[in-house]
Parts: sequence; structure tokens; C-alpha cells
Amino acid sequence: MTTDLEIKEINNNKGSTEKARLEYNGTVVELPVVEGTEQEKAVDISNLRADTGLITLDNGYMNTGSCQSDITFIDGEKGILRYRGIDIEALAERSTFVEVCYLLIYGELPTKEQMDDFSEGLTRHSLLHEDMIHFFAGYPSTAHPMAILSSMTCSLAAYYNDASSSPTEAQINLDVIRILSKLRTIASFSYKKSIGQPLIYPNNKLTYCANIMNMMFAVPSEEYYIDDEIVKVMNQLLILHADHEQNCSTSTVRMVQSSGASIYACMSAGISALWGPLHGGANQAVLEMLQQIHDSGENYKSFLTKVKDKKSSIKLMGFGHRVYKNFDPRAKILRKACDRVLDKLGISDPLLEIAKGLEEEALKDPYFVERKLYPNVDFYSGIIYSALGIPVNMFTVMFALGRLPGWLAHWKEQNEFDKKKICRPRQVYTGYNERLYVPLRDRN
Ligand code: SDX
Repeated sequence: MTTDLEIKEINNNKGSTEKARLEYNGTVVELPVVEGTEQEKAVDISNLRADTGLITLDNGYMNTGSCQSDITFIDGEKGILRYRGIDIEALAERSTFVEVCYLLIYGELPTKEQMDDFSEGLTRHSLLHEDMIHFFAGYPSTAHPMAILSSMTCSLAAYYNDASSSPTEAQINLDVIRILSKLRTIASFSYKKSIGQPLIYPNNKLTYCANIMNMMFAVPSEEYYIDDEIVKVMNQLLILHADHEQNCSTSTVRMVQSSGASIYACMSAGISALWGPLHGGANQAVLEMLQQIHDSGENYKSFLTKVKDKKSSIKLMGFGHRVYKNFDPRAKILRKACDRVLDKLGISDPLLEIAKGLEEEALKDPYFVERKLYPNVDFYSGIIYSALGIPVNMFTVMFALGRLPGWLAHWKEQNEFDKKKICRPRQVYTGYNERLYVPLRDRN
């Protein structure tokens, strides 16, 4: 009796969906093969346990699709990224962050009327409940702004408890607007708190990104000049971070949404997941890595030697990606933007030269080439944030502001899915078999 699991050839029955035959313990099951609009294929194992008693095991979900989604397409081998079918290069060059928010969340580029309504909503909902301002007094000035953003976002549920577990469409649209607009205010306030400056409230005359710059960098004692070029760069940075299919933080948002939790709790969970240095926290880790190389005067070739030494556990932060095994298209755009922004601002940042040197060296080093490790979105973004005057501990907050429309789009897509179920993975138990309780007196 065979106990080996054999996946038979995919039986391509013409005229009907493909099947994958699986033979185990003398049982043969045919599993449907699902094909996406970009010809990606997946074996649907929804009935696997019922049919065979087996579950699957997939560390880090490297091979496991959690859902079908219409929002973002990534081709990791070709370095393609599209939001609702539109290439990231076109959106980064020609769109605005608010327009990309609308595209991701509602699925289409907005008409002028839709754009005006959406922008008006963002303007009208930028203020926090005044009681929330007192929360900032409770945080130490050294608090990481991601801790503030995550907790303040969840606290919004205390003020907007109309966010029920089965919200109406109007309610969802209002919560989408509140989150996109108020988190920008919370982020800016947390920065002002950290530098002991007075809070600068949103200005309804300013556009979305101009308001971020104003709330972060204006002071009550003088006029703050907003450079349109810099606002365009801010738009581009947020567009490039807006969505990235089932990454760690987006999957977290979908997981929390599946229990029916408040949309504010889902966003707060996404922010917390993003904070990790292997995910959105990498942009901060990249700058700290470049600064450390610069301050130590270490030759970046010797730094890469340490990275390649498994005993060192040092990683080249900003390099590598679970999906991209080619250039991350966002990194290519950001590398060009670095030169443009620093040139415009008349800044020559030695950290940019170190980053370019590390990239050049790594891209011809067999260790990185064999593992298909390329610069990702975090490798260059921090250099631009720094040039804009944004401090390192705010980098991941900027990533979170950019990723909000993606989280909201996935939240909405899952909420509207007519077969949605609470996400509850299985496991393979490897602990003790049954054993008896031992009273304390008998334990040695
Ligand atoms: C983001 O998922 C997304 O889409 C995320 C994101 C988004 O927009 O949401 O794109 C944003 O999070 C980008 C990634 C930012 N993180 C970093 O830059 C941190 C550094 N990168 C790595 O930690 C790593 O590359 C990951 C976490 C990004 C991906 O890890 P994987 O897919 O689990 O791959 P792995 O860790 O198993 O690495 C495979 C091999 C290993 O070597 P071997 O055991 O085979 O010898 O490559 C090595 C790793 O040691 N490796 C690295 C490396 N990344 C992988 N070695 C040195 N430096 C690195 N950066």
C-alpha cells in the first residue's frame, strides 16, 4: 500500500477546468485547478481534508494563496506591479496619491465629480476628536511614532463606534475617508510631539500631501513655504507604497477583518505588522545600516562579506523579496527619484553613494545573484524621506500612510466576498502525547 504522496500529472481535460490528481493511501482525488486572469494557477484544496484526511503545511505561506483578488498584480520574475491593471510606472509618473486611493479602493480611476467628492471628504474629516489630542500628552517624547499610530488608530473605534461588524456601504465609505484623512493627522501630530513643537492642525485649503508637509514642518510663528516639486515627490512616495497584494501587513488586515472586528482595529493590526524590520520597518533599518557603514568608515565590500557570513546574521537591509526575483519596479523608480530630489534640493548625501556602491557590488556578487536578491522598495526610500526632512523613526509611518488604501481595498474586497469565512489555519501538532497530571508534591 503506497503511503508516498504522489502528485500525478495535471490532467488537462479539454473544455473543462484543469484538475490535479493526488494519490494517497490508495485514494485518488482530483483537485480543481483555479486560473487567474494573468494565467497564475492554484490547486484548490478546500476539500482536501474531507477527501483525504490530509492538511497542507507551508512555512511562511511561501506556496499558499489565501484568496483570489482583483486589486494588485505582481509578476516577481518580470518585475511587474499593477494596481487594478495599471502599471506602477504610469501611476507614479502621472497620478496623485488621492486618485490612486480611489482606484485601489473602488476599482476604477475616478471621474472628475467622483474625485471632487472624495477629495472634499478627505478635507472635511481631517480633524481628530479634540479629546484625542490629550492622548499625545501621555506618550513619552521618545515613543516610536508607529506605537502611537497603531494605538491611536485603534482608539478611533472608541469615537466612531458606529463602525459595526456588518457596516452599510455608506458607513464603509465614511470610515474609508476618516481613516485616510485622520491617520495623516495622527502621524503628523506624533512627529510634532516627538520634537516638542506645537501641533499644526490640518489646513482645508491644502491638498492631501501638502497638508502632510504643512502639519509636519510648519510652525505657528512663521509662514511655511510648500514646494510643489516636493509635494509631487511625496505623492510619488505614497503611490509606490499604496498596495502590494498579500504582503504580511495586508494579510494581517484580512485576517483580522475575517473575525468581523472594527475596521479601525483592522488598520491598527496592519500598522503593527508593518512595523517589523523584515517588512515596513526595513526602510528605517536601511538608513541605520547606511549610517553605521558611513560612521564606521567601513568599506562596503567588507560589510557585504559580513552579510554573506551566516554566523553574522547581518542582512543587507532593503535587499531581497519574497515575490520579486528581479528588480522591484518601485526601487528602480525611487533610485531615479533620489538623484532628482537631491539635485533639486542641492543635497549631496554620502549615504546615497554608499547605497549605490552596495547595490553595484551586490548585483555582481554570486551570493546575491544566486539567491536573486535585488533592491526592494525600502532600499532607496529612506534617502528621499531624509532629504525631505523626515526623521528616520518616521519612515515606517510614511510607509503606513502610503499602504492605507491597499489595506482598505483588501478590507473592502474581503468584506464583500460572498463566501467569506473566518481565517483559521490548521497545524501539525508535535508536542507531548497524552500524559497524566503530576501533583506538585510528586514533582522533583
Ligand atoms: C517589504 O511582501 C511584500 O510585498 C513586502 C513589501 C510590500 O510592499 O509590502 O514589498 C515591503 O517588506 C519589502 C522587504 C523589506 N525587508 C527587507 O529589506 C529586509 C531584508 N530582506 C530579507 O529579510 C528578506 O529578503 C525578506 C524578508 C524580504 C524575504 O525573505 P524570504 O522570502 O523569507 O527569503 P529568505 O529569508 O528565506 O532568504 C532566502 C535566502 C536566505 O539565504 P539561504 O538560507 O538560502 O542561504 O536569501 C538570503 C537568506 O539568508 N537573504 C538575504 C537577504 N534576504 C534574503 N541575505 C542577506 N541580506 C538580505 N537582505
